[in-house]
Amino acid sequence: MFDPRSIPADQSTIDALRSRGLDYRQVDPADDAALQSWAQAETRGFHHARPEPAELRRELRVAKQRSLRGVYDPTAHDAGVPVATVDGWPSGLSVPGGRSVDAWAVSAVTVSPTHRRRGIARALLEAQLRYASEAGAALAMLTLTEATIYGRYGFGPAASAATIKVDRRRVSWIGPDAPGRVQFVEPADLIAKAPAIARRAVSRTPGEIDRWPGLLERHLGLVDPDSAASRALRVARYDDRSGQAQGFVAFTVGREPNLPGIVEADVFVAATDEAERALWRFLVEMDFVTEIRSRLRSVDEPLGWLLEDPRAVSMHDVVDHLWLRVLDPVVALSAREYGASGTLTLEVGDALGHAAGSYVLDASGDGRAEVRRTDDPGVDERRTDERRADEGADAAAAGSRSGRRSRGKATHGLRLDVRELGSIYLGGVRPSVLARAGRIEELSPGSLALADRLFAAPRTPHLSIWF
Ligand SMILES: CC(C)(COP(=O)(O)OP(=O)(O)OC[C@H]1O[C@@H](n2cnc3c(N)ncnc32)[C@H](O)[C@@H]1OP(=O)(O)O)[C@@H](O)C(=O)NCCC(=O)NCCS
Repeated sequence: MFDPRSIPADQSTIDALRSRGLDYRQVDPADDAALQSWAQAETRGFHHARPEPAELRRELRVAKQRSLRGVYDPTAHDAGVPVATVDGWPSGLSVPGGRSVDAWAVSAVTVSPTHRRRGIARALLEAQLRYASEAGAALAMLTLTEATIYGRYGFGPAASAATIKVDRRRVSWIGPDAPGRVQFVEPADLIAKAPAIARRAVSRTPGEIDRWPGLLERHLGLVDPDSAASRALRVARYDDRSGQAQGFVAFTVGREPNLPGIVEADVFVAATDEAERALWRFLVEMDFVTEIRSRLRSVDEPLGWLLEDPRAVSMHDVVDHLWLRVLDPVVALSAREYGASGTLTLEVGDALGHAAGSYVLDASGDGRAEVRRTDDPGVDERRTDERRADEGADAAAAGSRSGRRSRGKATHGLRLDVRELGSIYLGGVRPSVLARAGRIEELSPGSLALADRLFAAPRTPHLSIWF
């Protein structure tokens, strides 16, 4: 696994911030005091309360594996507390077809209100994109507070999420009975199995990202098990017919004395459709409850189809949740599977340079695609040589996939900015919708229809955590 701490601080960022009297540096993972100051600055930046001691200890454990960067003002009252923070690390991102692509997660972007609008965030973000490229990430990704901040760096919204509310009184289950069983488990008993379940849940859902060490402990209330919040948390696990654990939910029931409660189930992890159905059924059929709520759920939940009255389920607070920024279109586009066969040219604009260029995506119909850059003369020459060699060999392999590729001629094409490429990448929005919004240009008739078919994903992309 690539160690983000091995990337030296970006010199152009150091110089840019030094010219404004500020120091930009990596926080020493061995320096607990510096890590604590960084964590305090980050929570303050997000307008959160100071972290509880147990939460702070957990953050420090995570921070030691990361490459935290801070901007320091030597003239400030407490010069050891950064005036800006950022965290970035390599992480897999699940893509349509079930593969994981190497990506770079960006998090903890804060600038103190005392130092806002001096270009600090821009300097930090541009450096993160350079680190990501250096680490070999095909994309950068983040979840965000305000949708107006990151488009300028090439990020586009790629997967939405919503709060699901279920009116308990209207619930009448018509879905299949699960062959396995749901049972309560203590969080400490689940934690050994939870990462493997979560890994399988992540890999079957485009848009989910790798869970980092310490996250599931937090989700299961194990960071501070004696706190009121952890004691209120209940955990139920689904085991399939053969006794294999396939999913779990962590939830609380909030209630006033003598009144029925409201279930809040924000941690919902299912490695199979069967587990997903069984856990939903467990939640929505709970007695002495009026409502079941779950945040950061898919905008394409099958829950309504499992109930006699689909109006028992309502969707609220739909937000663009995962934002993607393509850095290497060849690697990113080659990683996912496609819904059709065809050849499409993508002319990508990128003000920051990383992804700018012209690319041909040649999808063979078995889901896979070959993607190549066509505006790099060096690449073209190498391709021509390869093609000549291929054509010699092709006589014997007519109809083979490489044979189809060498004959493939790009007659369809789109012109788009890297922001839009990030948005269509997982199949969460159709290219034709962005064309209707004037954000993608169709270069020849039929290109949008082909792009819609190619980029369609069998499963709606979804990310169920913040990072
Ligand atoms: C968002 C935040 C990091 C911006 O920091 P900053 O140092 O003031 O930003 P910069 O001065 O580098 O501005 C960079 C660009 O972003 C724009 N921008 C900054 N904050 C913005 C906001 N909240 N909404 C819209 N645009 C914003 C600036 O106008 C500037 O635009 P330009 O370069 O195209 O002219 C800072 O306001 C902050 O810490 N907010 C609270 C925490 C937060 O929301 N963090 C984001 C986490 S996802």
